[in-house]
Amino acid sequence: MRLKDAFGDTAAMRVNQLWPQPGEVEIDSHVAALGLAGQAGEDLPHTVANFVASLDGRAGFEGRSGPLGDEGDRALFHALRETADAVMAGTGTLTVERYGRLIRSPEARERRARAGRSAEPLACIVTRSGRLPLEIPLFAEPEARIVVLSGAPVQAQGVAAQVEVVALEEPTLAAALHVLRTRYEVRCLLCEGGPTILGALIRERLLDELFLTVAPKLAGGGHDPALSTGPILPEPATAELAGVLERQGSLFLRYRTNCDA
Ligand SMILES: NC(=O)c1ccc[n+]([C@@H]2O[C@H](COP(=O)([O-])OP(=O)(O)OC[C@H]3O[C@@H](n4cnc5c(N)ncnc54)[C@H](OP(=O)(O)O)[C@@H]3O)[C@@H](O)[C@H]2O)c1
Repeated sequence: MRLKDAFGDTAAMRVNQLWPQPGEVEIDSHVAALGLAGQAGEDLPHTVANFVASLDGRAGFEGRSGPLGDEGDRALFHALRETADAVMAGTGTLTVERYGRLIRSPEARERRARAGRSAEPLACIVTRSGRLPLEIPLFAEPEARIVVLSGAPVQAQGVAAQVEVVALEEPTLAAALHVLRTRYEVRCLLCEGGPTILGALIRERLLDELFLTVAPKLAGGGHDPALSTGPILPEPATAELAGVLERQGSLFLRYRTNCDA
């Protein structure tokens, strides 16, 4: 394993694949080979979420997800960002996690550019209130491309980042994802949270895959949420196991969702 550099380039990290075929895989090339973008529909992107949970089912520890993950989780996080056309997060996650530029590793940016892609994915923000956390580092990045999708008026003037605001006629995630696919040509959309947005994606049946890191850690209680929050489904939706990786006791599960759609 090459050590993660200061920018989070974990390109050569190897992990154990437990299923479907036992063996060793390198996270970056493994994720690239999944061909997520190729699974996009005409009207909607192929939408995957990446979350980490403690063994006792919490999505955070004292308000942050960072303490739950480890280097393997971060390698998967960076590999998914590198493969995605766009990264979506709710205003809660953007604020708490203080989002900055989406790909900081020069090597990863270079790899995307060599493949004829933009150096970084488009940052997508969905907000119902229209209130943005303009103080987070992402908005101070001149190279960051951000699209804000909302049914409410949005103020985003005076920031260094390149921000476009899309007024949604209907304030749903389905409407937002349709715009991302048809106007911004997003094929693979990576949702990084948080639980409110994940719950809404599930309820609107827009989630195609869940990458879930089960971290060998216990929170023991507290106020951090479960992975999804909000109104419950009429009955549990099913999912299909698509892959299991392991590294130092962390399980990296990949599930196909929307199986019974
Ligand atoms: N374990 C993990 O992998 C993971 C991942 C991400 C986050 N987290 C943790 O989750 C916590 C934040 O969670 P969160 O649920 O508050 O944040 P969130 O899901 O990132 O953001 C929620 C906000 O998104 C906006 N929103 C946009 N469209 C919406 C819709 N259709 N339905 C509902 N809300 C919509 C609303 O804000 P406005 O309308 O006011 O803008 C809402 O308050 C943090 O502690 C973070 O560390 C954990």
